[in-house]
Amino acid sequence: MERTFVMVKPDGVERRLVGEIIRRFENRGLRLVGLKLLQPGRALAEKHYAVHREKPFFQELVDFITGGPVVAMVWEGNQAILLVRNMMGALKPENAQPGTIRGDYTTDIQTNLVHGSDAPETAQSEIALWFKPEELL
Ligand code: TYD
Ligand code: MG
Repeated sequence: MERTFVMVKPDGVERRLVGEIIRRFENRGLRLVGLKLLQPGRALAEKHYAVHREKPFFQELVDFITGGPVVAMVWEGNQAILLVRNMMGALKPENAQPGTIRGDYTTDIQTNLVHGSDAPETAQSEIALWFKPEELL
């Protein structure tokens, strides 16, 4: 069993896609182990995206992710990290396949609705960054 950190970004909350996104992971058979609505502050957002600190889009990315409420979640299941990544769809809009969340609901590289951890180490650190152990059931 694997756990992964998933976030519906501010554009997904604004567009009322929280239910649709959760429905997809539930239908797939993943198990929800943690969930909260919060508006992340700059410190949290900068830690979350620390790997991108030197990138030209970093400030805009932090502005975007702190710009409204997000839904932070932890999902569990067999190969949960890769399953979620596949269901999210690719980052580049032209590569996001129909049937994926990004491929079905966005054409923009930044307002791309959803975040999912990309590897076991990042899943572990992101879950620890966003959730206290007692918030995971
Ligand atoms: P990244 O971790 O590469 O993508 P993913 O979300 O698929 O794991 O990038 C993190 C976020 O940074 C991405 O969701 C949107 C933003 N971003 C841009 O706005 N412009 C860019 O050119 C890139 C590479 C990312
Ligand atoms: Mg990433």
